[in-house]
Formats: sequence, structure tokens, C-alpha cells
Amino acid sequence: MLITDARLRHHGDTLHDVEITGGLFTSVTPATGTANRGRQDVLDADGALLTAPFVDAHVHLDYANTVGQPRHNTSGTLFEAIDIWADHKAQGYVTRESVLENAATAVRAEVGNGVGFLRTHVDVTDPALTALDAVLELKDRVRDWCHLQVIAFPQNGILASPGGEELLAEAMRRGADVVGGIPHFERSREAGVASLRHVFDLAERHDALIDVHCDEIDDDQSRFLEVMAELTVERGLVGRVTASHAVAMAYYGPGYMAKLVPKLVQAQMRFAVNPTENLQLQGWGQSAPMARGVAPIGQLDAAGLNVAMGQDSIADPWYPIGEGDLLRVLESGLHVGHLLSEPVLQRCLDFISDNGARNMGLEDYGVRVGTPADAILLDARDDKDALWHHADVLASIRGGRTVFRRPRRGFLEAMPGLTVSDAG
Ligand code: FE2
Repeated sequence: MLITDARLRHHGDTLHDVEITGGLFTSVTPATGTANRGRQDVLDADGALLTAPFVDAHVHLDYANTVGQPRHNTSGTLFEAIDIWADHKAQGYVTRESVLENAATAVRAEVGNGVGFLRTHVDVTDPALTALDAVLELKDRVRDWCHLQVIAFPQNGILASPGGEELLAEAMRRGADVVGGIPHFERSREAGVASLRHVFDLAERHDALIDVHCDEIDDDQSRFLEVMAELTVERGLVGRVTASHAVAMAYYGPGYMAKLVPKLVQAQMRFAVNPTENLQLQGWGQSAPMARGVAPIGQLDAAGLNVAMGQDSIADPWYPIGEGDLLRVLESGLHVGHLLSEPVLQRCLDFISDNGARNMGLEDYGVRVGTPADAILLDARDDKDALWHHADVLASIRGGRTVFRRPRRGFLEAMPGLTVSDAG
């Protein structure tokens, strides 16, 4: 396949031709205009932005599209959501068929929004591990559309839930890729620290990456991030550990942040923040001044830490909407982070692409010679334009094969009555 007249990120208005052979990008050259007319396998980008697929750095596919089962979240809080999910499991809603159908619907929406890589947490505190098996099956069934990386996530705690340690270990044996945890949900500070040691031990045994739901609570005394940083350095796992959510950071004072951030830098801690989700879940019952419970994206980014954004939830007890539309997630994250500065806007797609790929440990990610030919075409000139105009995804390509194409909308041209020349 030859993609002609494509813009590339950070290359201005210069157009390029990109050749794909044997599932890999094999050349990227300045556009040759009409030289390739007559070839059958040409995809004319017509100036659209060719970029690596979006990466959803944090999502829960096994929860997707379950909102209202068995009831809606009336308080809006994370802890009511966890209770609803426990009832959801107890009442028999989780079956292979239901998870496959609901998660497949979510994956289709994500792919339609330009996502090619998803890091999905899956609850492994169900003794039958039904959802894990279903998501692992789904991973195989959607491999022509996207790549799923599966995290064994102990939603009800490793030590706080019956058999939690053994279920987490069994999930890794069954094929989960990454070890998860939830230390702030364990019964005490000490149990939280012990659960983190367990996570690190298990990851070492499987040579696996780590991604922990860390300090997702409106509590400035929830301080497991420093424990994670310490363990990361102590175990020689620098750069292999992700802290997800980390919302308590929004409540930390400057004195503690001055101590914490250098420790995070030393550990090269990866971050997966979920702005839309945590704007909904956090900050209930606060008095002024109101913290909104999203990790300080700008401060982490400025310290050189890798910050990726994720959807987190798609219509589940935690969050009632969502469809894997990462440009919307990005827009929320940049607003809540006070990050609409020109230098950030020029590289803003990093938060939903390269940074997520780094969290996932994807080494062959990006549109360049020699990498797998995974890409999307955005109806935009550059990063800022894509965010600003919420660019349509015109095509998705995986391994050199077209997953889908859709026509340009020609939005203004479709409304001739709105041309200025008609005025007066
Ligand atoms: Fe999450």
C-alpha cells in the first residue's frame, strides 16, 4: 500500500508519501504528486495527518456498558460504584457472553475513534475469573483491529478480598500481561504497603510490567505513590511501573510535592490519568476551595515524567458515558491541567499516543521506517488542529491492512446557505 500526500506530526505543511510493504512502513519520502497515478493500492491522504493510532492508556473493558446493572450510582462517588460492582457480580451479571458482547461494543467504539492500542484492567477478584477469560478471548478476536494489553486488577483488594493473592497469581498464569493493585482500598495503610510488595513480587516472577490504581481517593494522607517509587528503585524496575489515577496528588501541599516529585523522577514513574472519569468521581462532599481530584498533569509533565491519558470507563457504575473518544479525554485533561499553552498544544497528541505507548512498553510504535504499519488518518493539519476541531478519524490501518475508512464530512461545504458572500 502507498499512502500519498499525508501530513506528518511535527513536519508542518510538507506532504509525504508513505510506503507499506509486508505489514511494515518501508519508506517515508516527500510527496511526488502525480508520479504514483495508476497504482491500484494507493490511499490518497489528501493532506490529512497520518499518525500512529491513539493509545488508551487506561480502560476497564469488563465494566463497559453495564451502567444501571443492577442500579445507577446516585452519589456519583467511586465507593458507591465499587459497591454496585460487587452487587453486579453477586447477582450473576458477569458471564462470558455478557462481557464479550459489552467489551466488544466498547472496543468497536474505541477503534472507530482512532484507538489502536488499549491497556485494559480486568477485575480478578471473581473466583471464577470469568471476565478475565472473556477479555483474553476478546483480545484474540479483535487482534486485526487493535492490540489489547490485559492487566490483572484486584478491584476488591489483594488482601481485603478472599483468596485475593491466589486469584491475582492465577490471573497471571492464565495470560494477563501486567500486574495491578489497589493499595488505598486495602483495610489499612500497612495492608496497602503489604499489597504493593505482593504486586512487585509477582511482577518480578513473571517479568511483567506493573500498573497500580494508586491513591484514587480524596485524601491527602493517601500516600502509596512514594511507596511505589521506593519499591521501583529498590527492585531495579525503573521505567516499568505505572501509577494510575493518583488523584490524591491533587490534595498534596507544596511541601510534600517537593519531596515526592524527585522520587517519582528517580523511579521514572509512568502515569495514566483519567481526567473525564475523575472529574466525575472525585471532589464530592468537599468544602471550598474545591479540589477536582485529577493528578497534577502539568507539574508531572514539567518534571519530565511520562503522563498518558485514558478513558477509564465506558458507561459503567463509575462513569455514565464515554466511548473511547480520546480527543475528548485530552481536551478535558488539558483544560483541568491549565495546559492550553502553545508549546503543549503543538505536542498535545503525545498524551494520547506516544506517552501511552511508553506506559505499555510498546517499542515499535510510530510512523517511521521499520515499524509495524499501524496508523490513523486524522482530518487535521497538526496536533493543535486535531484537538481544536475534534478531528474526524478518516482511516485506521493495522499491520498494513485497512481496518476502516470513512469519507470527509465537508461540514461547511454541506451548508451552502451559511456562506458569508450571501450576507447583505
Ligand atoms: Fe481505573
